[in-house]
Order: sequence, then structure tokens, then C-alpha cells
Amino acid sequence: MPLIQLSHIHHTYAENARPVNALRGVSLDIEAGEFVAIVGPSGSGKSTLLNIIGTLESPSQGEYRFDGQSVAEMSGRERAQLRASRIGFVFQNFNLIDHLTVFENIRLGLRYRRDHLKNENERILSAMDKVGLAHRADHLPRELSGGQQQRCAIARAIVGDPQIVLADEPTGSLDSQNAAQVLGILAELNSRGTTLVIVTHAPRQADRAGRVVEMHDGSIHLSTRRLA
Ligand SMILES: Nc1ncnc2c1ncn2[C@@H]1O[C@H](COP(=O)(O)OP(=O)(O)O)[C@@H](O)[C@H]1O
Ligand SMILES: [Mg+2]
Repeated sequence: MPLIQLSHIHHTYAENARPVNALRGVSLDIEAGEFVAIVGPSGSGKSTLLNIIGTLESPSQGEYRFDGQSVAEMSGRERAQLRASRIGFVFQNFNLIDHLTVFENIRLGLRYRRDHLKNENERILSAMDKVGLAHRADHLPRELSGGQQQRCAIARAIVGDPQIVLADEPTGSLDSQNAAQVLGILAELNSRGTTLVIVTHAPRQADRAGRVVEMHDGSIHLSTRRLA
């Protein structure tokens, strides 16, 4: 069974006078362990799709199953637990808390779990190590380069050992060298079994994915699988 099953998903932002149909019938299955790149022009619905996969947004229409379970039928609490324990998020602008150290920012990745983990410190140290920030534990985000900040955000995303990592233009604010390093860390995670979905503008990054999904005007225009 696919980890992610989206069937005929529509999404309309209706807050404003003129509603926006951001998604118009998207169906997509993602198997556990896949690396999927979502590409497409600005405004084509990539972030909306990623936010629905991450349960940050509920679709206006259509069915979403995570690991076989209907997300719409979950309570708000169950969805929050799903996000906290099984999904990791990485954003373009890092979203770190300014006044918390690297260690404390990463610890936030464990905060909303109900199953209080015993070996918290070890997990945080191990996450810092995976992204090469072990020597920066006590630094504040402003003392780090953009690439280091994004690596800290990745550590926060993976400290709880999620099944899937969702990254929305994770290298969009980085120079090419830092971008390559960040992508390398994400690809390494995927090679160890974490399902990875990234939204990207960089063709080189999409090339590393097992599947490229092209969005256009709220629909999937093309979905190309790469041979292993
Ligand atoms: N919170 C929102 N309220 C209203 N419209 C939105 C909102 N978020 C996105 N949109 C609109 O939905 C469409 C898809 O946006 P988005 O998913 O962010 O696309 P992409 O990530 O591909 O640039 C765009 O027309 C955008 O302006
Ligand atoms: Mg976007």
C-alpha cells in the first residue's frame, strides 16, 4: 500500500473576494522510500500540494490517505500527532527560532510528540551529527551561514525519525555550494529509507529524484519515473 494516496484532490482558497482554485483534481500515490521532486511554474499549486500532504492544509475536495488511514476522518489531535511523529518539514526560509540555540531549535522537533522519548539528548546529538552541526550546538541561528541554518532545520525535521520529509524549495535561499550540500543530506536520508518529497526549481535536483511530478495550473501535467 502506498504511504501517500491522494485521489481527485481539489483545493480552493476562498478567503478573498475572488476564490483561487489552487488544485484542480490531483491524484498521486507515493510509495514508502520514494524520492519525488515536484516542479512547475510559480503559482501552479506545488506548495498547496505539499501542505496538503503534510496535513497543514485540508483539501476542499477529494480523499487523502496516509498509510491507509483517511486523514479527513482523523481528529485534529490525531492529525497533530501524525505531523509530530511521522512527518518532517523543511521550508525555504528555515523557520528557525531566533533566540534559541541550534540544540534547542532541534529539540523543538520532538516537542509535540505524545510518546515522550527517553533518549532525547542522544537523538538531538545524532541529528546534529547527521547534518554536520555537532560543533555548533550552542550557536544562535544568526551566527550561522544560510546553509548551516538550513542544515539545522533539517536536523529539527528528522530528529523524531519521521517516515517522510517534505521540503518546500529547501535550497531556494542558498548559493549553489550550500544548495548541493543540503540536497546531499536530504538524498542521503532518502537512501537510508526516509520517503522524500521536495518542491524545487533546480533541474539538477529534480534529476536526483526517482520521480519528477510536473505541476501546471493546479494539475499534474506529467509524472516521470526514472529507472534506478
Ligand atoms: N493562503 C492563500 N490564500 C489565497 N490564495 C493562495 C494562498 N496560498 C496560495 N494561494 C494561491 O494558490 C495558487 C497556488 O499557490 P501555491 O500552491 O503557493 O503555488 P506554488 O507553490 O507552485 O508557487 C496561487 O494562485 C496562489 O496565489
Ligand atoms: Mg510554493
